[in-house]
Amino acid sequence: MNIKYRSKRKGLEGKLYCADARKFLQRHQGVGADLIFLDPPFNLGKPYPGRSRKLDKVPDEKYAEQILQVLDAAIDVLAEGGALYLYHVPKWGLRFGGHLQSKLQFKHWIAVSMKNGFVRGRQLYPAHYALLYFTKGEAATFNRPKLEITRCRKCGETTKDYGGYLSIMEEKGVNLSDIWEDLSPVRHRSTKTRPANELPLAFYRRVFEISGVEDGLFIDPFVGSGASAIVAMEFGMNYTVNDISADSLQSSLNRLRNAELK
Ligand SMILES: C[S@@+](CC[C@H](N)C(=O)[O-])C[C@H]1O[C@@H](n2cnc3c(N)ncnc32)[C@H](O)[C@@H]1O
Repeated sequence: MNIKYRSKRKGLEGKLYCADARKFLQRHQGVGADLIFLDPPFNLGKPYPGRSRKLDKVPDEKYAEQILQVLDAAIDVLAEGGALYLYHVPKWGLRFGGHLQSKLQFKHWIAVSMKNGFVRGRQLYPAHYALLYFTKGEAATFNRPKLEITRCRKCGETTKDYGGYLSIMEEKGVNLSDIWEDLSPVRHRSTKTRPANELPLAFYRRVFEISGVEDGLFIDPFVGSGASAIVAMEFGMNYTVNDISADSLQSSLNRLRNAELK
C-alpha cells in the first residue's frame, strides 16, 4: 500500500493513503490510535468523486457486512483507552452501535442537527445524524467543552433562560450536551472544497477537544475532503488518513498543503 503524501510539520507526522478502508485499517493493525473517526458512505446512492453512485447503493445486508468488517478492523487499530467515533444516519447508527457496544465501552449517542435533504415516504423530516462515541475500556482522555451562552443575533438577548444560572453560565460557559444544534453543514459553494459532502471544521474541532491527545495518533479511513486531518494538525496530533477515491485525496492533499503553509 503506497503512501500518497507524507508530511513532517512541527515534529508531527502526517500520512495520506489511497485504499479500501478495511485494507487500510488492517495494514495499521496494532498501531494504537488514540482517536479514530469513521464517516463511511451511507449507502444512499451518492456519487463520490471519481466513483459511480451504484457503489453507494448495494443491498442492505451487503452494506452491513462491509461496514461491520471496517468496524472490527478499526477496533484492532484503537489503543487501550482510545476513542472511536462513528458518524451515520440513525437507522445504521442503531445497528452498528449495537455491534460496537458488544466490543467497546459506550459513551454517547450525540444527536448532530444537520438539516439536509427532504421528507421521504411516511416519515418525519430527518433532522439529525448520529455521532456514536465509544472508548476501548476507560477513556484515557476526556474533556468536556464549554460553549458560550446563545444570544439572539438581532437583539443580543439570551435565547434560553438557563434556570436562574445565567451569571454562572456567562462566567464559566455552558457544558456541551449530547445534542449539537449549533453547527452548520458545509453546503455553500464558497465554503465547500469538493462536490461531495464534507463535515465542518467546527464539528471536528469539538471531537478533538473531547478526545484529542496532543502528540497522539489520529486515524480516519474515509477522510473525504481532508477536514479531519486539518484539525488533527491544528490540534497537534499525528494523522494517518485514507480515502479510496484518488479525486477525494487530491482535494485533501491541496487542502493539507495550504494549511501547512500557514
Ligand atoms: C461521507 S464521505 C466522508 C466525508 C469526510 N468525513 C469529510 O468531512 O470530508 C465518505 C468518503 O468515503 C470514501 N469511500 C467510499 N468507499 C470507500 C472505501 N471502501 N474505502 C475508503 N474510502 C471510501 C468516499 O470517497 C468519500 O470521500
